[in-house]
Amino acid sequence: MLTFSLDGTGKPPALGLGTWKAAPGAVQDAVKDALAIGYRHIDCAPIYQNEPEVGGAIAEVIATGRVSRGYLWITSKLWNDAHAPDRVRAALKKTLADLRVDYLDLYLVHWPVAFKPGVLFPRSGADYVPLEDMPIIDTWRAMEECVADGLTRHIGVCNFSVAKLDALCRQATIPPAMNQIELHPYLQQEPMLAFCRDKGILVTAYSPLGSGDRPAALKKKDEPTLLDHPVIQKVAARHRATPAQVLLAWGLGRRTVVIPKSVHPERLRQNLAAINLVLDAEDMADIAALDRGYRFVDGSFFTGGGSPYSLAQLWDE
Ligand code: A2P
Repeated sequence: MLTFSLDGTGKPPALGLGTWKAAPGAVQDAVKDALAIGYRHIDCAPIYQNEPEVGGAIAEVIATGRVSRGYLWITSKLWNDAHAPDRVRAALKKTLADLRVDYLDLYLVHWPVAFKPGVLFPRSGADYVPLEDMPIIDTWRAMEECVADGLTRHIGVCNFSVAKLDALCRQATIPPAMNQIELHPYLQQEPMLAFCRDKGILVTAYSPLGSGDRPAALKKKDEPTLLDHPVIQKVAARHRATPAQVLLAWGLGRRTVVIPKSVHPERLRQNLAAINLVLDAEDMADIAALDRGYRFVDGSFFTGGGSPYSLAQLWDE
């Protein structure tokens, strides 16, 4: 059961605020606005290079007494340069210091891809560490210790294929609570959802609106847009809703957590209101027909220039 507020079940509110691509100068107000509007779930990562500003906003709001830490769900992620077991705890502690909290609700392995320590983004093949030399299970053991030490309540992964998730589940002492993956009508990933349902793993949909503000370097030519698709617009008109609300309601209707990013108060409000939009069987059938296995964030940025990683190996496809 997904919830829309913290209800003691240990599960995140089903709609959270995404902070990827929110510039440091804008994210502080966005987080403050979101918390004022009623968001209680913030999705963060050190590689977004804005955790200190997100933390500043969280601290400011908590200091007003309007929201207490116990009513917030805060997720962050382990960057690829800190997979070595002896680096995991320090990476999490740095994130805690930046976010100005003393525990996370959820800490995720950001990618099944490892870099040498200190590499934010690889410039050559030498900056990578192959997974054979840095097995996920070794990283996971250190993640498990962070739960035991009270630094995070839950642990999980992002961008894991079914095969990688299955392998992890077989070895883990604490099974992953979450797989955060790209999900939207062009990339519906039904087999992944079925696998996760079966294992009791929650799924978070990132880029639920199609992530149109990605930097040009991360975009392909002639990308399809989601918000403008005629079917999405038709369903929106049917419900007197916006296309963004339809995309979010579609994700919520599939029992996935959605984390739309916005830095504009009116859109933050609009996006949160999607929790009240229920799509019917006809809407869901119309949208189901849009699936084309299309990734906006396909990981190809980890595969060039002598990298030991390939797309086939990343997605096990
Ligand atoms: P902005 O931050 O300027 O509001 P995703 O969550 O898939 O990564 O998509 C984020 C992109 O979608 C950003 O460009 C964001 O812009 C935009 N966006 C967020 N909410 C809405 C909305 N309600 N309508 C249209 N675009 C939106």
